[in-house]
Amino acid sequence: MPDTRTAFITGASAGFGRTTALALAARGWNLILTARRPEPLARIREETGATAVTGDVADPAHRARLATTLAEIDRLDLVINNASALGPSPMPRLADYPLDEFAAVLTVNTVAPLAILQLTLPKLRATDGIAINISSDAAREPYEGWGGYGSSKAALDQLTAIFAAENPLLRVYALDPGDMRTAMHQAAFPDEDISDRPEPETVVPALLHLIETRPPSGRYTAADLTTSHD
Ligand SMILES: NC(=O)c1ccc[n+]([C@@H]2O[C@H](COP(=O)([O-])OP(=O)(O)OC[C@H]3O[C@@H](n4cnc5c(N)ncnc54)[C@H](OP(=O)(O)O)[C@@H]3O)[C@@H](O)[C@H]2O)c1
Repeated sequence: MPDTRTAFITGASAGFGRTTALALAARGWNLILTARRPEPLARIREETGATAVTGDVADPAHRARLATTLAEIDRLDLVINNASALGPSPMPRLADYPLDEFAAVLTVNTVAPLAILQLTLPKLRATDGIAINISSDAAREPYEGWGGYGSSKAALDQLTAIFAAENPLLRVYALDPGDMRTAMHQAAFPDEDISDRPEPETVVPALLHLIETRPPSGRYTAADLTTSHD
C-alpha cells in the first residue's frame, strides 16, 4: 500500500471544509474533495493538488461519480462528512417549517453522510481508517428555530454512534466544532455581526488530535479536545 495518507472531505469549497483541506495538504495528505460550486472548489484544488469532484452530496448521481473516483485510489484513511445545509434563513419554527425544506436538510445532513460512509467503508476497513461526521451543539440543545438543522445533526450523532458500534475496527467520530465564523454561521444569524466568532482554523488542532491520536470512537467537542491536550 502506498505511504501517503488520503482523505476525502465533503464541503471543501468554503468554511471549515476548506480550512481542513489546507491543513491536511500542508501535512502531506492526498485529498479528494467535493462541493457544489465549481470555482471555489477549483481554487482549493489548485491550492492543495487535490482531486476535486463538483456536485451535490444529496444527489445519488453525484455520489456515483464520487464512488468511481474513490474506486481509483490506492488507499483511503480518512472520510470527513462536513458538507451541511442549514435550511431556510431566517430559520423557521417547527410549526411553520416547510416539510420539503425539512426533508432537504435531512437529506444533506443525515442521509448523504450515511451514503458516503457506505461507499467508503470497504476502503476504510483496509486502512483501519477514520470517519468524522461534523456535528453541532444544535444536535443536543433545543434552540428555538433550529428544529430542522438540529434534528438532522441529532440523527447524524446517533447514526455515527451506531456505525461505530457496528464497525469496531474503525474509528468513527462525531465532532462538534463549536461556533465558527463562516457563511453558514452568518446565515444562522443574518442580522448579527459575527466577527467575534472564532475562525475555522481554531478547530484544526482538535481535528488533528482526533486523527493523530485515534481516541475511542464517540462524540467529541473541539473545545474538549483542545483543552484536554493543551
Ligand atoms: N459555522 C459554525 O458555527 C458551525 C457550528 C457547528 C457546526 N458546524 C458544522 O461545521 C460544518 C462546516 O460548516 P461551515 O460553517 O464551514 O459551513 P459553510 O461555510 O457554509 O461551508 C459549507 C461547505 O459545504 C458545502 N456544501 C453545502 N451543501 C453541500 C451539498 N449539498 N453538497 C456538497 N457540498 C455542500 C459548501 O460548498 P458549496 O456551496 O460549494 O456546495 C461549503 O464548502 C458543517 O457540518 C456545519 O454543520 C458549523
